[in-house]
Amino acid sequence: MAEARTRTAVLISGRGSNLAVLIAAAADAQFPAEIAFVLSDRADAKGLGLARDHGIPTAVIDKATHGTKAEMEAAFDAALRDAGTELICLAGFMRILSAPFVDSWRDRILNIHPSLLPLFPGLKTHERALEAGVRIHGATVHFVRAEMDAGPIVTQGAVPVLDDDTPDTLADRVLGVEHRIFPLALDLVASGRASVKGERVIIDGAAMAPDAALLSPPD
Ligand code: GAR
Repeated sequence: MAEARTRTAVLISGRGSNLAVLIAAAADAQFPAEIAFVLSDRADAKGLGLARDHGIPTAVIDKATHGTKAEMEAAFDAALRDAGTELICLAGFMRILSAPFVDSWRDRILNIHPSLLPLFPGLKTHERALEAGVRIHGATVHFVRAEMDAGPIVTQGAVPVLDDDTPDTLADRVLGVEHRIFPLALDLVASGRASVKGERVIIDGAAMAPDAALLSPPD
C-alpha cells in the first residue's frame, strides 16, 4: 500500500498564488503531501475560491467572529486539529502567530517570505531591497519561530535586481521563484528528507543540499 501523504493545511490572507502552486504540486499522487484544508483570516481572500474549486475544505476565522488574538488562535488551532493537520504552510498569511501557538506546532509550520532572509524581515521587502541597492534578491521558505520571519531555512531562490526595476517588477520576478521553492520545500519536509537539527535544516543528512538553493533562475 502507498504510504499516507502528509496532511497539510495552507493558511492564506489574500490572492493565493502560492496556494495554487501547492495544490498543483499535490495533484500528483506521488507528491508526499496532500492539501487537506485551507484556512483564512479574511473572508474576502481570493484563494478561498480556488480551494473550493478544488474541493478542498475551507474555513474563515476572522476578527469579526473571534475578537482577540488569543481567541482567533484558539479557533485556528481547533480547526487545524479537527482537519487532522500534520503540517501547516503559511502562504501569504499576513498575521504574526504568537509564541504559544508556534511552540505547539514546533517544526510543523513553514512560511514563505519574499526576501533572502535574514535580510528584510517584515513588510515592503522589494522596496527595501531596491533602497538598499542589493544586486540579488529573492525568497525564503523557513520553519516558523516566534520571532517574525525567523527560523531554520529550508529553501531559498535568488533573482538578479535589474537597473530599471520597480518594487512591482521585482515582486513579479521574486514571485516566480516563490512558486518554485515552496512546492520544493513542502516536498523536502513532507517526505522526511529535510528536518531541523540544532536550528539548521538538514537535508538527506547533510548541512547543504544543492536542490534547496535556486540560483539565477530564468527571468
Ligand atoms: C507572497 O509574495 C508571499 O511571499 C508574501 O505574500 C505574498 C502572497 O501572495 N508573504 C509575506 O509577505 C509574509 N510575510 P499569494 O497570496 O499570491 O501567495
